[in-house]
Amino acid sequence: MSWTDKARVSAAAQAVRELKDNTIVGLGSGNTILHALELAAERIKKENLRITFIPTSYQVEIAAKKLNLKTTSLDQDTEPELALDGADQVQWRTLDLVKGGGAALLREKIVDSTARRLVIVIDEKKLAKTLGGPQPIPVEITPFGYASTLEKIRRISDKANLRETTGKVGPIVTDNGNLIADVNFRSLRRPEIVHEKLKKIPGVVETGLFLGMADTAYVGRKDGHVDILRKG
Ligand code: A5P
Repeated sequence: MSWTDKARVSAAAQAVRELKDNTIVGLGSGNTILHALELAAERIKKENLRITFIPTSYQVEIAAKKLNLKTTSLDQDTEPELALDGADQVQWRTLDLVKGGGAALLREKIVDSTARRLVIVIDEKKLAKTLGGPQPIPVEITPFGYASTLEKIRRISDKANLRETTGKVGPIVTDNGNLIADVNFRSLRRPEIVHEKLKKIPGVVETGLFLGMADTAYVGRKDGHVDILRKG
């Protein structure tokens, strides 16, 4: 296991202590969350906890079922106590996030924004002073008119490409039937302005900028420690 994986597991082990009995928990997507889910399943079994999860992708829905965990949806349970999620980049002071590396950003944003608290699990490589730079901002766009949507995104960014996939020819199609544009901005000092500009483009469904949403971040360090950062 790489040090980043070890760090994510250590951070996830501490983050799952936030889970409380008799609660509904939003479940983000990605590899870190798969680690967290396994650790949560161990706690649930050992302590006989009644926790029901709202999955944000087929990936975590299938994983939760394999672990015999109870799942629900936002349509049935509209007020999750907590959402547990990963991220691609975290601004260390504000806890603003870039998400969508696994193309699950739309469902994640809907669930994360509904939960009373959002707890993020990352390794320290994902901490950044400013968002963006080499890290692309994933943007979910409709298939209809995608080429002209991409062109409009290019006019306000440095680079924008449709995300390709493996195991299938052509672009990634999200769990919602949309496409993903990976968009680069050299510097994102005012991410809220960029988010607003992107959202104004017809065809843009949602951006991977999760601003002002995270309450706590568990950061696994290379030396094995876990830091807990809280929104300032
Ligand atoms: C899914 O679309 C993403 O938002 C993930 O939460 C993010 O990409 C982190 O994934 P990993 O834990 O796999 O790095």
